[in-house]
Amino acid sequence: MRVFICGFGTVGQGFAEVLARRMDFLEERYGCPILVTGAMDSKTYVLDRNGLDPLDLVATKQRTGRVGEDEYSDSTKVLDQAAYDILVEVSPTDIKTGGAGLRNITHALENRKDVITVNKGPLALKFNELITLARRNKCKFRFEGSVGGAMPIINLCRENLRGEKIESIRGIFNGTCNFILSKMDKGQPFDQVLKEAQQMGYAETDPTNDIEGYDSACKVAILANSVFGRNVTFDDVKITGITGITEEAIALAASRNMVIRLIGEVSETKLEVGPRLVPRGHPLSISGTLNTAQIISDLAGPITVSGRGAGRTETASAILSDLISIMDERTE
Ligand SMILES: NC(=O)c1ccc[n+]([C@@H]2O[C@H](COP(=O)([O-])OP(=O)(O)OC[C@H]3O[C@@H](n4cnc5c(N)ncnc54)[C@H](OP(=O)(O)O)[C@@H]3O)[C@@H](O)[C@H]2O)c1
Repeated sequence: MRVFICGFGTVGQGFAEVLARRMDFLEERYGCPILVTGAMDSKTYVLDRNGLDPLDLVATKQRTGRVGEDEYSDSTKVLDQAAYDILVEVSPTDIKTGGAGLRNITHALENRKDVITVNKGPLALKFNELITLARRNKCKFRFEGSVGGAMPIINLCRENLRGEKIESIRGIFNGTCNFILSKMDKGQPFDQVLKEAQQMGYAETDPTNDIEGYDSACKVAILANSVFGRNVTFDDVKITGITGITEEAIALAASRNMVIRLIGEVSETKLEVGPRLVPRGHPLSISGTLNTAQIISDLAGPITVSGRGAGRTETASAILSDLISIMDERTE
C-alpha cells in the first residue's frame, strides 16, 4: 500500500513518525509494507515509488525546512506524477474556500484514490460533494481526526454505535477556548489569559478562528453531516465566540456553582456553537485543553468521551486508525 502525505508540518511529520513506529505491526498484519511514496509541503515535494524512509523525511524537513528538493506550482500535477493509493491530506485548514486541501482531496478522489484527512475546511464546506464523489468512484474517505483530534467521535458514532439513534452530541471541541475559560474561572481576565495561551503555544498568533468559535463550528458542521446525515456547511452554524465573556459573567456563574464553556451542539435540528452555563461536576465542565463530547442515543443513553483534541502524535493516531480501517476493508 502506497501513501502520499500532503502537508508536512506538525501533523504530517507526526504521522510519518507514527507510521515508522507501527511499520512492523502493519507489515505483519497485512503481509506487505506501507510505503510512503511521496510527500509535499507548501513549496517542495519528493517522490519515490520504491518508498521513502518516513524518519528521513522528518529529519530533512527539520534540517532544511523543505521536505524535498523539487519545487512545484500546481500540487495536483505532483499528485499525477506520484504512485500512491491513499492520500493523507494534512495541509492547512482554509475555512473560507477549502484551499489547497479541497483541491487535493477532490483531485485524489477523482482519480479513484482513497483519502484520509484531518483538514476541517474542505469537510466543513463541501462535505456532501466529497462524500458523493468518493461513493461514485468507490473510494474510501475517512476523517476521524478532523473533530477532536485523538478523541474518538466520528467513527465511534458511525461504527461502534451503529444501530443507535443518536439524538444529540454536545461537546467542547476547541482546547484553546477551554484553556482560556478555565483560567478565567480562577479570576484572570480574558486578554491576559489569551496572551498566556499564545506564549504557551495553545493559541495561534491570530486566534480568531478559535476564540470566535469558527474552529468549533467547523467540527459541528462535520458531525452534523457525518453522524446525522445532514447536508450543512460551516455557514449554517449559529456561532457565538468567547470574546464577550466578562469576568463578571464568570463570577456570576460561579456563584451558582456553574462554569461557562464553549459548547458545540448538534442534533437533527440544532447546529450551534456558543458559551453555555454548565453545572460544576458535569462531564462538559472540564478544565484545561482537553476536548470532550457527550453523545445521547436512544438505547445506550449518554456516552462521554474525552481526549487530546490536538497534537503531533495524538492527531496522527487518528490518521493511523483510519489507515488501518481502510487497509482492513481492502483486505476483507
Ligand atoms: N495540529 C493539530 O494538532 C491538528 C489537529 C487536528 C486537525 N489539524 C489539521 O491538520 C492540518 C495540518 O495541521 P498542522 O498543525 O500540521 O499545520 P502546520 O504545522 O501549519 O503544517 C501545514 C503543512 O502544510 C504545508 N502546506 C501549506 N500550504 C500547502 C499547500 N498548498 N499544499 C500542500 N502543503 C501545504 C505546510 O508547508 P510548509 O512546511 O512549507 O509551511 C506544512 O508542511 C490542518 O488542516 C489542521 O486544521 C491539526
